[in-house]
Amino acid sequence: MFRPSQRIKYQPDPGKSPSAGRAEASRLFSPVSYHNLHLEQRTWVPAMVPWRASEEGCVTDDILDWYERMAYGRPGALVVEATGIRDIASGPLLRMGHDRYIPGLKELADVVRHASEGHTRLFIQIIDFLSIRRRPQRGKFLGRFLEITPSHCRLLRAQGCDEAEIRAQLLALSDQELQDILTAREFESLTRGYRERVTDTHLPHIRALPGILPDLFAAAAGRAQQAGMDGVELHYAHAYTMASFLSARNRRDDGYGGAKEQRIRLPLEVYRQVRQVVGDDYTVGCRYLSDDCIDNGSDVEDAKFFGIEFARAGMDFLSLSRGGKFEDAAQPKPGWSAYPYTGLSGYECMPSYISDEQGPFGRNFEPASAVRAAIRQAGFATPLVVAGGIHGFEQAEAVLANGIADIVGAARQSLADPDWFLKLYLGCGDEINVCQYTNSCEGLDQKHKQVTCKLWDRTCLDQAGVKLSKDGRRRLTAPVWKRTPRRT
Ligand SMILES: Cc1cc2nc3c(=O)[nH]c(=O)nc-3n(C[C@H](O)[C@H](O)[C@H](O)COP(=O)(O)O)c2cc1C
Repeated sequence: MFRPSQRIKYQPDPGKSPSAGRAEASRLFSPVSYHNLHLEQRTWVPAMVPWRASEEGCVTDDILDWYERMAYGRPGALVVEATGIRDIASGPLLRMGHDRYIPGLKELADVVRHASEGHTRLFIQIIDFLSIRRRPQRGKFLGRFLEITPSHCRLLRAQGCDEAEIRAQLLALSDQELQDILTAREFESLTRGYRERVTDTHLPHIRALPGILPDLFAAAAGRAQQAGMDGVELHYAHAYTMASFLSARNRRDDGYGGAKEQRIRLPLEVYRQVRQVVGDDYTVGCRYLSDDCIDNGSDVEDAKFFGIEFARAGMDFLSLSRGGKFEDAAQPKPGWSAYPYTGLSGYECMPSYISDEQGPFGRNFEPASAVRAAIRQAGFATPLVVAGGIHGFEQAEAVLANGIADIVGAARQSLADPDWFLKLYLGCGDEINVCQYTNSCEGLDQKHKQVTCKLWDRTCLDQAGVKLSKDGRRRLTAPVWKRTPRRT
């Protein structure tokens, strides 16, 4: 896990909470309208995977409970977790690669509409990701999985030896010695687990991505629309396929890599195909990165260009995150997969309270402001969402007043207290559970455990009707606030 060298400990500082009157008159609680995006207030809960889908990727009762609980807080927008567009097994992560997923998603949309009394717009984040395998046991990898090539034989000076002898020789080498015998990718597969990249164009299915992804995204978006979701967020951020196309590390030679104009080609083709299917009056935006935060990755100049082009193409909103890449992820333990939030780029994505002199709150503000200014200069009014350490009213107001963004995203703070926007709005800010940014939620995500918040997950465990996590030690949703205006 990445640790900032300075290791300065920060306390969240939510500042002064507004009276109900001040909140009512604030920017944060003013509506925003642009093309197909119409929010009652500029509050936004970004996508968060809570690890509650079924093994088949279906909506479960626990998923319904989770989003219902979020919707009681009535944010302007609530984005459903990254949901896979393919019909392939991917563990308990939501999927929508087939029409059989529509009824579950419809139930989810209905639950959110009901719980928020129609105040919250529900979007779903749609994602494609490439294959990643767990870090293998050394013996198994060298003894079985590794494909023995003439290069191994030559480098080991073992021409003429049979495969079993070569494997025995490899097994006898130290990792350092192996680095001279294996290719960089083979060594990576051994020490971190095999991971596909968009640049693996020697693999037919990777070469074919530009031909297949527009239709897959479009079909998923069509299902979201049929299910009654209010819109889709194309996941062009973090460690996944579309962000990898946008990344400056993408050197594909088929017209979809290299210069930024080529790297954005597929994301634009995906968007256009989605638009074709959902029509001109459905909300479609994307989440992408203000900076990859990795060596030789895309930076804020790329993000400005991408933002202008997405706006020009007609997207209804742009949501900016940062970092969260595989390239600098920590080495996983044998049997575990690499997790893209464990390196410096992961820190930039979800900074914790132990930080450097810049601190964990608002690390994405400066780049977001630059991206927004570039989009405005190009003549587009596309609303920008920013997230990253936002947990207080004045901080949120400053984001809007200073032109950093048009909509305020708060992920971990909304997990810590799903009613926090509502409490601010009602003048009850002193009742907010303030996120401590210890990243215990992210630690659970990393272990693929049901995500909860330690600020509430041990509260009133014996209360009637409280559902517990699989380990039986934590409640699955935040206790309901006494003033929650929920319908029964
Ligand atoms: C448990 C957890 C799951 C997350 N899952 C997603 C996801 O599915 N898609 C996404 O774009 N970001 C995801 N994120 C990142 C958040 O949306 C957000 O960008 C990040 O936490 C920084 O914002 P914050 O400081 O307000 O938490 C996740 C974050 C957490 C803590």
